[in-house]
Amino acid sequence: FQAEDGIRDSVASRGLGDVYKRQKDALSPIMSEETLDLHHGKHHQTYITNLINFIKDTDMANMSLEEIILKSSKDESKAGIFNNASQHWNHNLFWKCMKPNGGGKIPSKLEKRITSDFGSVDQFKKNFKKEGITQFGSGWCWLSISIEGKLVVSKTANAANPLIDNMKPILGCDVWEHSYYIDYKNRRPEYLDKFVDNLINWEFVESLLD
Ligand code: FE2
Repeated sequence: FQAEDGIRDSVASRGLGDVYKRQKDALSPIMSEETLDLHHGKHHQTYITNLINFIKDTDMANMSLEEIILKSSKDESKAGIFNNASQHWNHNLFWKCMKPNGGGKIPSKLEKRITSDFGSVDQFKKNFKKEGITQFGSGWCWLSISIEGKLVVSKTANAANPLIDNMKPILGCDVWEHSYYIDYKNRRPEYLDKFVDNLINWEFVESLLD
C-alpha cells in the first residue's frame, strides 16, 4: 500500500465523481459547470497534488488521510501538510453531500435527531447558514456529531475541520469564494440558501449518523 495510491483511491471514490464524469453540468444552475470544473478539477486536485509531494518519503506516506490530519494539526511545522490533507478530506465530504435536485425532505431518522437537538428543521437550517455567513474569510460550515452524540453546527477557518475537535462531520459546506463567486459573486447567503434547499444529499448525510 502506498499513500499515493490511497489518496488517489479516495479521489476516485469522491461522491460527485460518478455524477461529474457523466454530466459536468449535473448541479447546474445551482452550481455551474464552470464552478465545478474549477473547484473539483483544479482547486481540489491541487490540494491532492501538494499533499502527495509533501508526504512523499516521510512516515506519513503510509497513514490514512484522517491520521495525517490529526497528526499534522498538532505540529506547527507541518502546517502545509495539514492544510492540504484537511482540504482534501473536506472536499471529499463536500462532493458527497450534494446531488442533483437535492435538498427537500430530510429522511425521518435524521429529521428526528435534528428536531431533538435544534428544536426544528427550520431552526437547524437557520443556525447552519448563520455559521457559513459569519465565517469571516475562507472556511467551512458544518453539521457534526459531538463526542456526547449530539448534533452540533460550527464553522472553521481556512482548511480546519471538526475532526481535530473530536467531532464527526456529517455535512460540510465550502464557503471559500472559489465555491460560489462565479455563480453568486459576493452573495454568500444566497449560495448557502441554494446549497441547503437544492443541493444537499440528505440520504448521504443520514448514512453518516452511526
Ligand atoms: Fe473548495
